[in-house]
Amino acid sequence: MIDWVEETAQALEGARRVVVLTGAGMSQDSGIPTFRDALTGLWARYNPEDLATESAFRRNPAIVFGWYLWRWQLARRAKPHAGYWVLPSLDRVYEELVIATQNVDGLHRRVGSRTVVELHGSLDSFRCLDCAHPYDARRLARVRVPEDGAVEPPLCDECKSPIRPGIVWFGEPVPTDALARGCQAAEMCDGMLVVGTSALVYPAADLPTVALAAGVPVIEINPDRTALSSRATVSWRERAKVALPALAQRIRSGVSAR
Ligand code: OAD
Repeated sequence: MIDWVEETAQALEGARRVVVLTGAGMSQDSGIPTFRDALTGLWARYNPEDLATESAFRRNPAIVFGWYLWRWQLARRAKPHAGYWVLPSLDRVYEELVIATQNVDGLHRRVGSRTVVELHGSLDSFRCLDCAHPYDARRLARVRVPEDGAVEPPLCDECKSPIRPGIVWFGEPVPTDALARGCQAAEMCDGMLVVGTSALVYPAADLPTVALAAGVPVIEINPDRTALSSRATVSWRERAKVALPALAQRIRSGVSAR
């Protein structure tokens, strides 16, 4: 029986700069469906790829805006699980701990992780579709998403174009500053955890490859096999909310034993 906690702690032994790359599976146990879970309820008839594009928004702004508003309200109600809450405690163990997330739900920021790079944007940020003027999300806090999911997007205060979510849509580049920070962290790290991602979407899925190419240990935490599993130094078949608290406790005890 493999002691995955020990395997992982030994793989990270001596690491000083660690990257934690997270995907939708990290929020699964906080009640936020993974990206490739079948969409539920009124969204069941849509495919995320059909909603998460600029052309879908221009074609049907009310349905796309309603979906993001619904996801934003879900994220605001979500409670980060124990796996989220232990990450800030590791901020104090490592010289640098960078959370590079593909998630847009804001939960890493919610628990107070010190360095969070949001590669795919954030549900908390809205902006004008055309002039990019920011739109304060608090103005949407009381907007209700009706049964049919359609919510007409508000108009930009500056140019009257529709307001869009501050999320990276399919076909759009990852924000250059976020990508640069994520790549630099992957190039500089001496340990990487990859938690809850199918490792199918680039450039995020490149980060573990960069680390592995530099001989850096990459530990995957995922109940299912993924495109990364065969290459990972350690591929731990476990849920984030179980693995991360156990690992954090072992790492902190290892530090205090020194
Ligand atoms: P996916 O839905 O592709 O993958 C989620 C992964 O989490 C799967 O491998 C699941 O097995 C795993 N998983 C499920 N429950 C878990 C748990 N409790 N603990 C740990 N892992 C669990 O989501 P992502 O890989 O994040 O991009 O998708 C990456 C990107 O694809 C998304 O950010 C989105 C999409 O295109 C954009 O929207 C730009």
